[in-house]
Amino acid sequence: MERLVIVSNRVASSLRADEGGLATAIRAALHRREAMWFGWSGAVTEGDPGPVRTEVEGALTRLLLDVRREDFDGYYLGFSNRVLWPLFHYRVNLAEYDRDAWAAYRRVNDLFAERLAAVLSPDDTVWIHDYHLIPLGAALRRLGVGNRLGFFLHIPFPGPDVLTTLPVHEALVRALFSYDLVGFQTDRDLQAFADYVVREADGLISADGAAHAFGQQVQAAYFPISVDTRAVAAHAVRTAGTGVAARLRNSLSGRKLIIGVDRLDYTKGLVRRLAAIDRLLETRPQHRRAMVMLQIASPSREDVPEYQQIRAELDSWAGRINGRFGEPDMIPVRYLNRRFRQDTLFGFYRASRIGMVTPLRDGMNLVAKEFVASQDTEDPGVLILSRFAGAARELETALIVNPFDVDQVADALDRALAMPLEERRERHAAMMAQLEVHDVHAWWTSFLRALEAFGASSVAARPIVSEYAAWH
Ligand code: ADP
Ligand code: F6P
Repeated sequence: MERLVIVSNRVASSLRADEGGLATAIRAALHRREAMWFGWSGAVTEGDPGPVRTEVEGALTRLLLDVRREDFDGYYLGFSNRVLWPLFHYRVNLAEYDRDAWAAYRRVNDLFAERLAAVLSPDDTVWIHDYHLIPLGAALRRLGVGNRLGFFLHIPFPGPDVLTTLPVHEALVRALFSYDLVGFQTDRDLQAFADYVVREADGLISADGAAHAFGQQVQAAYFPISVDTRAVAAHAVRTAGTGVAARLRNSLSGRKLIIGVDRLDYTKGLVRRLAAIDRLLETRPQHRRAMVMLQIASPSREDVPEYQQIRAELDSWAGRINGRFGEPDMIPVRYLNRRFRQDTLFGFYRASRIGMVTPLRDGMNLVAKEFVASQDTEDPGVLILSRFAGAARELETALIVNPFDVDQVADALDRALAMPLEERRERHAAMMAQLEVHDVHAWWTSFLRALEAFGASSVAARPIVSEYAAWH
């Protein structure tokens, strides 16, 4: 039987846990589907990594691999999260390239390939995810793996001027040509890839959407990732009136809730977001007793120095605003560094008048979509959304802002706090209509359909079948 084999660095540790957007979406995609999920176990070893560990949970089989500490440090903390992550989010000045980390990155990809190849059957479809594993397809091909191989990039693909600051940019892009299908989040990312192919690799994009370069070809398209819209909406209704979400609502005493939920990451624009709250309270005193901000920022990648720094900055901003505008009976910013069950978060969103999603750059941002799906359609909240989140390409009736412009974000907050019900409903209905059609199931089915169409057997590119896949 043809199996689906998902490969990603992070494997959701249980069907209820959460580990960021990738795990959230894959978990929803695999719901009750027969599949294998191969990836890092979450453990590092001092000596050789042992055998692949197998865990079976219903229809899902997890195959988990430990990684040697010295390799892990270079691969995950180094090349993935101190080079690719900042660079692909346009933070060129934060990227700390070094050859040892690049070597460790390739070693771990080779290790994944070797262990994965040993468990693959010839007709398995293999779907590899995200920036940690870009060279995995090429490593598998070198081992003679002829299976259908798809790759999806969850983060932005930067324009060529940014990408070429990476000393090994060519090796990285060349590796993408070992896949049968490469998927990006948005038309912008696809365009950036095409620009690289044409301008840097002297290649071309044919009319059917195939990229040709390095003497090879690959199909490329965009597939905006999404949420399980109906399930999120149902959870939100259920959790909003109970437990901690109900306590949150009761604690508001009629004040309007502004919510932000993010991994604690410098790409999420959290410092500027708090600066916009500060500006709002400073310039519009009428809101001081009329609103509360709840910012949930769960610690992430804590061994990477830039993440320690952003955490310290946020602590100081939250303290500063509360010190400045707090009263004995109320503080304007509730700032929490912890995780919540996702259905609880959906209840929080439903209790909120405003969702603030203001990343400086983001591949998609699922929180924006979860916020919309969680709203009461009769009395919905307003989404303030950065133009630099992939989600802004779809959620056009959000209040779209430039997160670098603190005054503009403060203006948007002011407008959202005063927005009449009818306008809130109209804006929300348009976004909800989009998410009802383009949910997580549309994402994975359209990717897998396209992968089947362009599988290993297809020598010449065929027309793109996915509704998402138009080349712009
Ligand atoms: P990223 O993948 O960069 O973390 P996304 O917004 O795309 O960003 O996805 C984040 C996912 O993690 C969402 O599904 C969100 O609900 C979840 N999440 C974020 N913060 C928390 C938290 N504190 N507790 C639980 N889940 C969280
Ligand atoms: O969605 C982006 C992403 O980087 C995923 O690849 C990753 O699993 C998630 O965020 C959380 O980050 P990490 O795996 O480094 O904890």
